[in-house]
Amino acid sequence: MTLNPRFEPSPRTKDIRYAIRDVVVVANKLKKAGHNILHLNIGDPNAYDFDTPEHIKEGAIKGITEGHNGYAPSEGIRVLGEAISTKEQKDGRDIWTDDVLVTAGVTEGLQMLFANLEGKRALIPAPVYPPYTTYAKFYGAVPVEYPGVEELDWQPDIDFIRRTLEKDTKKEIAALCIINPNNPTGAFYPEKTVRELMAIAGEYGLMVISDEIYDLMLYDRDVVKPATHGKDADVPLIILNGISKVYFAPGWRIGYMAFRDNGGLKEFRESILRQARARLCPNFPCQYGYLAALQGPNTFLKEGIDRLRKRRDYSVKRINEMDGLSTRVPEGAFYMFPKIGDGTGDDYGFVMDILHNCHVLFVHGSGFSAEYGKGHFRMVFLPDPDTLKEAFDRIEDYLKKRSRRT
Ligand SMILES: Cc1ncc(COP(=O)(O)O)c(C=O)c1O
Repeated sequence: MTLNPRFEPSPRTKDIRYAIRDVVVVANKLKKAGHNILHLNIGDPNAYDFDTPEHIKEGAIKGITEGHNGYAPSEGIRVLGEAISTKEQKDGRDIWTDDVLVTAGVTEGLQMLFANLEGKRALIPAPVYPPYTTYAKFYGAVPVEYPGVEELDWQPDIDFIRRTLEKDTKKEIAALCIINPNNPTGAFYPEKTVRELMAIAGEYGLMVISDEIYDLMLYDRDVVKPATHGKDADVPLIILNGISKVYFAPGWRIGYMAFRDNGGLKEFRESILRQARARLCPNFPCQYGYLAALQGPNTFLKEGIDRLRKRRDYSVKRINEMDGLSTRVPEGAFYMFPKIGDGTGDDYGFVMDILHNCHVLFVHGSGFSAEYGKGHFRMVFLPDPDTLKEAFDRIEDYLKKRSRRT
């Protein structure tokens, strides 16, 4: 059939890719052919043996039964804004209820932010959660990657950031994005690093976009966030967070954006609120679920983290015992970003090889950054211990056989 040129999709959609879900298409074909695929690819705790805690579910159910089924206010329900403000103030940030915009997850927040950065550049960590690059490009912003240094457990390359800003004589770089703890590397930036990033943003007049979606998911350390006092206070700060990861409810699509600024972001913020009104509102009843989550108790989290820590330690050990694979120890979130050989090879080829021969699904590293993710793959250590063991046994056997053949 000849294509009607009037129905051609717009060129700006051509580059939309989501590596994490793209590989699933291939895996589903193998599944249909009868193979038992082990999924170590998706950052959704609920796809494994983690469930939304009962008190959080009850909050959302109450939202429905108490009749919150119409359109909600565009900025989110007031009681949730208050609870978010309380949480942020506990973390030492001057966030008030009016500074909060409830969104359909952090991802909607990213779309709104990048829509306001058209024609500007934004420093983003690399490798990175793909929507940062996708939406920046989609909305005509330019993502400028700053690498994590693998040898330093994927800490951000501060000198690289400084050099990049030095070269930005036209002052096109408007934002510095920080994701801490990080997806896909599992890196955790300690206080010194966070302070240094804030100081750089202050020095060069940037806004900081701080993605804290994994803020309580830490194994060996305590949470560290850009504050709103001391030197950090002059830096316009946009905080992103939500219910997806820490509270095990990613399908509810609830998150928020919170603004802390001294007036410099006024117009930027108003523009985002206009966008928020145009998209009507975030999910109404699930906001009551997030409210219940923020009110606590949080005991389920300690239990979840203890389980995840064991799975992380086991996964690190198994990966590092295999010839040709190595990994750093992730300190947060539930991802690892192992290196294949010397880290320069074809990561997509490796992931497909493992998928076809071991029926274990990872995501290729170049899906998180063509330059800084190549030669690596991302895996989640969310699966139960038996599944992890089965996956690593299959891969170990296969790699041994493969190396005997060559
Ligand atoms: C760094 C990061 N930010 C945001 C998200 C998505 O958050 P949400 O479900 O709130 O859109 C993810 C999901 O994997 C992520 O890794």
